[in-house]
Amino acid sequence: MPLRKKPPLYLSQEEQDGLRAAGRFNASVMDLVRPHVKPGITTDEINTLVHEYTLDHGHTPATLGYHGFTKSCCTSINQVVCHGIPDDTVLKEGDIVNVDLTTIVDGWFGDQSETFFIGEVSDEARQLVQVTFDSLWKGIRALKPGGTVYDIGEAIFNYATKFGYSVVEQYQGHGIGREFHQDPGVPHFPHPKSRWDVIRPGTCLTIEPMLNLGRRDTVLDRKDGWTVRTRDGKLSAQFEHTILMQEDGPEVLTLTQNGPQEGHQF
Ligand code: MF3
Ligand code: CO
Ligand code: CO
Repeated sequence: MPLRKKPPLYLSQEEQDGLRAAGRFNASVMDLVRPHVKPGITTDEINTLVHEYTLDHGHTPATLGYHGFTKSCCTSINQVVCHGIPDDTVLKEGDIVNVDLTTIVDGWFGDQSETFFIGEVSDEARQLVQVTFDSLWKGIRALKPGGTVYDIGEAIFNYATKFGYSVVEQYQGHGIGREFHQDPGVPHFPHPKSRWDVIRPGTCLTIEPMLNLGRRDTVLDRKDGWTVRTRDGKLSAQFEHTILMQEDGPEVLTLTQNGPQEGHQF
């Protein structure tokens, strides 16, 4: 038997409503934590806010226990690219920190992240965060029903590299639904294989570009098994949304009330 890829999943209206509710709740968690991400708070305190709010509403933090991850969100500071583990580290003036939230609501997953400034940050950090945010929206706007995952990576890569930033290749966006991570993988660069992944109405995926100030190479922390850092120790930023393709274009399921909207100037 020739090996064949699993057929893509197209969600029914009812299933789409499930995902929509998960995205909406996840976004409300981001709205809850945003005002607290300030100098002096620890990443563990952010984790506790996320954890308790999610449980109070009868939902489940997806990262808790996920392949042994021990916290209810990821917090990635400065040169940490992704999957930082909340701990007693105090956020200090000048840091940038990405908070990545994923919730399970009635079996459906919502996944998003934002990078925050802690007090005043350097111009270098501000511009990196701005371009990363804008590159996410370039990726979203490149999406057309019947287009491919390639279009996303191409748009993000072309935009980011114009500013001299590098795009992380080792970690990608992903299909999402009743599972946290499913097909298709969503590279943030033009990967030839992505030309085969057609995005039809009813497909749901995340876009979550990680841009580095220096080189794209990353190193995984061998002790904790999770924390991913830039190899050169320079800054990295990330934003993420969960996106459902509709007949007339992409629907962003994780838009927040009070967070940065498309076109936001940091
Ligand atoms: N939220 C991350 C993503 O965007 C995954 C985090 S998995 C964890 O795909 F185990 F590191 F929390
Ligand atoms: Co994700
Ligand atoms: Co995420």
